[in-house]
Amino acid sequence: MQVTDNTILITGGGRGVGRGLAEAFHAEGNKVIIAGRGKKALEETVSANPGMKAAVVDVTDGDAIVRFANQMKRDYPALNVVILNAGIMRAELVQGGGLADAEAIVATNLLGPIRLTAALLPMLLSKPRAAIMTQCLPGWHSCRWQ
Ligand SMILES: NC(=O)c1ccc[n+]([C@@H]2O[C@H](COP(=O)([O-])OP(=O)(O)OC[C@H]3O[C@@H](n4cnc5c(N)ncnc54)[C@H](OP(=O)(O)O)[C@@H]3O)[C@@H](O)[C@H]2O)c1
Repeated sequence: MQVTDNTILITGGGRGVGRGLAEAFHAEGNKVIIAGRGKKALEETVSANPGMKAAVVDVTDGDAIVRFANQMKRDYPALNVVILNAGIMRAELVQGGGLADAEAIVATNLLGPIRLTAALLPMLLSKPRAAIMTQCLPGWHSCRWQ
């Protein structure tokens, strides 16, 4: 991937690894849009990095992802790179009978990236150079598209 002159969406870009990636790509002269649920972290990151943009999305919400993809298409038509970084890490204590954490992990780390990729892919395929990158998330590598 060429690392300059891109328009890059980074999910989970308001803090942690995502914020680090956002600031590094921003410093390299890319237009960076960060996304996540928490407005506060997004606003703090944007105000520390003039020119960076932010948008709110919950990647566990399929309908919200469709609306979000439409928003990206409308507001950032040059978008050509997506970094699927938003994720959660929790202990899956299924022995105790509770599946809530396991289900949340699958919804966030697996379904979220698949849905977001599906929603943004038509836009990315129209670009002469485009890239999708993802964190190492369980199950993701079995997903294929053309
Ligand atoms: N740090 C590590 O050692 C490590 C190792 C392997 C993999 N990873 C993976 O790398 C990614 C980032 O790790 P990190 O340490 O930077 O985590 P982090 O500090 O907890 O940040 C996670 C980011 O994901 C966002 N996020 C979580 N759930 C979301 C949802 N439902 N919708 C939208 N955004 C959501 C969070 O924003 P909001 O809460 O505001 O939505 C936050 O910005 C995660 O996918 C993690 O599983 C990390």
